[in-house]
Amino acid sequence: MTPSTLGVGILGAGPVTQAIHLPTLARLTDVFHVVRVMDVDPAVAESVAGRVGAAWTADVDELLADEEVQIVVICSPHQFHAEQVVAACRAGKRAILCEKPFAMSKAQAEEIATVAAETRTPIIVGAMHTFDPGWLAAKAHWDDLITTSHTIRYSIVLPPNPRFEDFATEVATRPQWPAADRNDPDVAAGMIYGGIMGLAIHDLPLVRAFCPDFTDVEVLSCTLPYPAGYLVNLRVGQKDVQVSAVNSHSWEPEWTVEAIGDSSALRIDFSPSYVQAGSATAVIRRGWESEVYGPYAYNGYEGEWRFLAELARGTAEPLDITELIHDLTFALEVADKSAAAVREATAAANEKVMA
Ligand SMILES: NC(=O)c1ccc[n+]([C@@H]2O[C@H](COP(=O)([O-])OP(=O)(O)OC[C@H]3O[C@@H](n4cnc5c(N)ncnc54)[C@H](O)[C@@H]3O)[C@@H](O)[C@H]2O)c1
Repeated sequence: MTPSTLGVGILGAGPVTQAIHLPTLARLTDVFHVVRVMDVDPAVAESVAGRVGAAWTADVDELLADEEVQIVVICSPHQFHAEQVVAACRAGKRAILCEKPFAMSKAQAEEIATVAAETRTPIIVGAMHTFDPGWLAAKAHWDDLITTSHTIRYSIVLPPNPRFEDFATEVATRPQWPAADRNDPDVAAGMIYGGIMGLAIHDLPLVRAFCPDFTDVEVLSCTLPYPAGYLVNLRVGQKDVQVSAVNSHSWEPEWTVEAIGDSSALRIDFSPSYVQAGSATAVIRRGWESEVYGPYAYNGYEGEWRFLAELARGTAEPLDITELIHDLTFALEVADKSAAAVREATAAANEKVMA
């Protein structure tokens, strides 16, 4: 730590803090130092703070009152995000990074926008691929693909998170999920909703970039693959959009976003979440020609922290919060409609079995 580094306060010290943000901050010690770590579980707060020589607390207000905390990162469970973002804005912090989703409803997001405008607090959401240098390079070179693309494919094949968390660090806490009966329509709908709002939400902002009519969402089909995930076919305005994820122990990790037009196409391969292995690689094909961008030295996690430093120092323009609200609105629309489709299909299948 040097006097010129920015002081960070962390709300929520679970696996994402331990296995994503602290390893990222360990690469950026010339820019940040962790001042204080808060978790509702005091043992977790103390143990995680001890890893970085920071103070700890189990009280949100105590962390926010600490004047050395200039930047707040919110890594609590999603239902606490909106109120904690608002509280951090009101505490006069220089910048906020909130893990995704930053709110659970459009109304909450609009409240955040109002308070952030009042307090002039820059906010970013931890949709890390939007900060990945591979994605940013693709954006600078894809020309008219936004209008000419007709098919968007967003596919994730990942082992469950603990595999990567364990590569990164020794995780002090890990929630246990009870086994769920996916033949129950509400359970099946909840699994899809959780999958979209928990995992797909990462790159729905990238999908939205190609879907100007993002409020016009129709679910053509939606199923739950085994052992977990989602397979959703959408029509978004004039575009066909496929959104899928399979969580399996045995498969090789893959995380891709593709935008396909008749004369050009983009494919981006991201490294798995939790993994610090450089940026995505983007390939833009035009006829027989291919342009390759990346991999660059760092990924979207480091990208989001570097941008956060610029925001805190006033050397970058804050993001337009309306765009963050649009990203959330799109994710909620996909999640709500996909969950409704699965609930209906599961109930219909149950009735067929009973008949
Ligand atoms: N960016 C990514 O790659 C990525 C990956 C996975 C999850 N996430 C997001 O990161 C966030 C944290 O994920 P996680 O897996 O660490 O979650 P988790 O639920 O496993 O852990 C959260 C921690 O927050 C603590 N907590 C509970 N209530 C709290 C409160 N009111 N205030 C402060 N702390 C509280 C818990 O004790 C726990 O230690 C979630 O929003 C999740 O969606 C991001």
